[in-house]
Amino acid sequence: MIVKLAVIGLSNMGGNHCRDIYNMEKADLAAVCDTNRGIADSKAEEYGCPAYYSIEELFKAGGFDAVVIATPHFAHTTISLEAFKRGIHVLTEKPVGVHVKDINKMIKAWEEGKKVKKDLLFSAMFQQRTRGPAKKIKELLDAGELGKLFRTSWIITDWYRTQAYYNSGGWRATWEGEGGGVLMNQCPHQLDMYQWFVGCPDRVMGMFSLGKYHNIEVEDEVTAYFEYDNGMVGHFITSTGEAPGTNRLEIVGEQGKLIWEGSTLTFYRNRISVLDHLETAPGGFDKPECWTCDIPISESGGEHKLIIENFCDAIMGKADLIAPAAEGLNSIAINNAIMLSGFEKRMMTLPLDEDLFELRLKELIAGSTLKKTVVETIAEDMSQSF
Ligand SMILES: NC(=O)c1ccc[n+]([C@@H]2O[C@H](COP(=O)([O-])OP(=O)(O)OC[C@H]3O[C@@H](n4cnc5c(N)ncnc54)[C@H](O)[C@@H]3O)[C@@H](O)[C@H]2O)c1
Repeated sequence: MIVKLAVIGLSNMGGNHCRDIYNMEKADLAAVCDTNRGIADSKAEEYGCPAYYSIEELFKAGGFDAVVIATPHFAHTTISLEAFKRGIHVLTEKPVGVHVKDINKMIKAWEEGKKVKKDLLFSAMFQQRTRGPAKKIKELLDAGELGKLFRTSWIITDWYRTQAYYNSGGWRATWEGEGGGVLMNQCPHQLDMYQWFVGCPDRVMGMFSLGKYHNIEVEDEVTAYFEYDNGMVGHFITSTGEAPGTNRLEIVGEQGKLIWEGSTLTFYRNRISVLDHLETAPGGFDKPECWTCDIPISESGGEHKLIIENFCDAIMGKADLIAPAAEGLNSIAINNAIMLSGFEKRMMTLPLDEDLFELRLKELIAGSTLKKTVVETIAEDMSQSF
């Protein structure tokens, strides 16, 4: 079986997906769709498939099993709802949706769709889950190697972006166009992996700056603090204004700590639990014996292509999804909670009230005064954007 895919939204990311699908044995690029006719026509010509200029025309024409959505974020929701109505599988770009209420709508539509098509699939482009260190961390945590978890801190400040980047699309870095800044556009991967590794926090406190480094109306610097009912605390620090930035994850538990920085994963392994040691050690300044283990990483990760192949395999009943899109609810709940907490200057509790962020976002959109100067640029090399 060859899975017939239609790609919707064909510029930077969608253009990459078209190329990957075109070169894939298990998939066929059956159609392309973009509201920009020039882009749609040029991709259709390049890959020898029909072009559509609206999702209405695309769905009416049919002839595909699944859609890959690579439009600006808000449309991920509207297009998914239309696809599920027709029993069409969905692989959506990150973020799955912009706020909790939208993702709940998508999950509901997917559940409804499953009544018509039992094995209907809903997948998300969280390709960083395929990276070697990420898979290893997940494996070690699931095996309980760190014991009781104390703290998880992610400093992810290497998302440096210039003003030219923000000027390259009218939708970028606006409340109306993407509903947020660095948390919404750059950090969905880390927020997804954060919750994938250690679960969703129970309480979230957030602080941010709007347009601190750039002429934009959304956040470009964020510091968040998380609390878990099990006692773990977390931190999440991000920025698009720092260079050189840092990308360092620390997960600390009674048995030691895992540090992922760059392509290196190190396990500082306590021989005995800290919880036992601090009760029983005779000296006040004693420390548990600790071994430094460099964790071998054999795979580099298949990125977007692997997620699309996995989606096709899952459609063919040969694999489970690597990144089920319903799990995107968690990363967006953390995102929305950080922002709401910052706006309201109070701690937010999860699960988040689904109306709260939507209400705030509508106010931000209505109150927007920023006039954007859009400078069209050629399609970027997306290898710089993961
Ligand atoms: N997974 C990743 O690593 C990764 C990297 C970059 C971007 N993304 C995501 O991909 C999405 C697109 O980002 P981009 O940088 O490619 O944006 P882009 O602006 O370069 O491209 C978006 C395209 O969608 C088209 N479009 C807009 N609304 C449409 C609609 N309703 N129907 C059909 N086409 C429509 C536009 O004309 C444009 O060609 C975003 O959600 C972004 O977060 C993911």
